[in-house]
Amino acid sequence: MPINVHREVSVDAIEEQNRIAESLWPRLRERFHTQNKNPLAMVHTFGCQQNVADGEKLKGILAQMGFSFTDSPEQADLILFNTCAIRENAETKVFGNIGNLKQLKAVKPALLIGICGCMTEQPHVVEKLKKSYPYVGFVFGSHSAYRLPSLIQSYLDEGKRVFRVAPDDGCVAEGIPALREEGVKAWLPIMYGCDNFCSYCVVPYVRGRERSRRPERILEEFKELVQAGYKDITLLGQNVNSYGKGLEEGTDFATLLERLNAVEGDFRIRFMTSHPKDCSHRLIDTIAKCEKVCNHIHLPVQSGSSRILREMNRNYDRESYLELVRYAREKIPDVTLTSDIIVGFPGETYEEFRETLSLLEEVKYISLYTFIFSPRLGTRAASLPDPVSGEEKGRWFRELLALQDEIGLEQMRPYIGQTVRVLAEDWGKAGEGLLQGRTESNLIVEFPGPPSLAGQFVRVKVESVKKWALLGNLA
Ligand code: 5AD
Ligand code: SF4
Repeated sequence: MPINVHREVSVDAIEEQNRIAESLWPRLRERFHTQNKNPLAMVHTFGCQQNVADGEKLKGILAQMGFSFTDSPEQADLILFNTCAIRENAETKVFGNIGNLKQLKAVKPALLIGICGCMTEQPHVVEKLKKSYPYVGFVFGSHSAYRLPSLIQSYLDEGKRVFRVAPDDGCVAEGIPALREEGVKAWLPIMYGCDNFCSYCVVPYVRGRERSRRPERILEEFKELVQAGYKDITLLGQNVNSYGKGLEEGTDFATLLERLNAVEGDFRIRFMTSHPKDCSHRLIDTIAKCEKVCNHIHLPVQSGSSRILREMNRNYDRESYLELVRYAREKIPDVTLTSDIIVGFPGETYEEFRETLSLLEEVKYISLYTFIFSPRLGTRAASLPDPVSGEEKGRWFRELLALQDEIGLEQMRPYIGQTVRVLAEDWGKAGEGLLQGRTESNLIVEFPGPPSLAGQFVRVKVESVKKWALLGNLA
């Protein structure tokens, strides 16, 4: 693959794809008999925000080919599933969706069906697609996403199914136009891949080695987003705290935050995900001093038991995590924290699970993303003895949720009577006549107001709380 030292795909290779994309337009119109209308594509993204950001680029590329977009599979001329492999139920959902297309393809033979993203980087998935889903035309991994035009071209030229799942460690493809959702929130990937190899996690196998975008590229795209009116920009990476490795000396995540914070405008900067092992005091100091960087840290702990953390290969223990939380609270007094938790890691005992509960009581997260352990082929944890039954893990899981519900409410009650600054995002989503938005600390706020306020910063006086949201009125 033509890449330079920054693992960037060469400009020539990207331009070649642009040329192919444009040349496909007349052929696609002819195939779908759309006359003077654009053919329609449906891009369905599963999984995390990184995948959402990839989906926006896939849409950008399809738009270059002349597609408009639909959410309806029946109307679509091209259907692309951008898949997730993180847990078994994510994969089951995707296979269910692919299965449902068999009928559609039978009545609409010109329909193009593609599968991409994390699942396709797993050989057993590719085998299954080859054997059991013959109507899927092209399959490609995230490393090859920028080559979508040439993949579609070879499918059209040769009439044979195309499988492009790269065995390489991945690259950085710059200059691909993203077709973003309208609104005030934007996702901005700053790095790709993961080198941590947590023992339960498939990501390092499907997304390749860690590689960072150059800061100038990020800054340029960031300024474009601010200019375009986005006011809540989330920097994305599997482990943003190791941003900059392999780039010039002195390029790290804290420095990047400082540079972005210096951009003119009224906006907020968020980021995810922070790995506790790499979350330095310097980074916390930087968050504290950069006024546009939100005072919210998503800091996944996964478990409150040091033994389980060791088994998970997380490279921190309960104490060092709690020390980090203490430091963050000291330097950023109004900081809020959220976390990911895995229940039922192989060999976890009920006592060890209770250590997670006690950690929740100590840290007091505002909300959690909670998961029951799901064995992933090829990871170390998948081969460990796992004696606790699914029902038992389900009980632990419900115990965890009940405790977090209480803690979440307890964290929100002190806001009653306070006036908070809210970026109003959606009108009507939380109910007729209601606006929904977020505070800097990532608390959801619902309040009555006109649709014209969506996209603006407003002040809201909090009057009551419910699970996951503060309720109030415009101040
Ligand atoms: N089983 C359950 N949860 C998982 N996660 C990652 N891999 C697994 C797995 N095999 C969770 C972790 C991670 C989040 C994105 O997904 O909590 O932080
Ligand atoms: Fe995102 Fe991981 Fe799912 Fe891929 S496998 S979509 S990186 S959560």
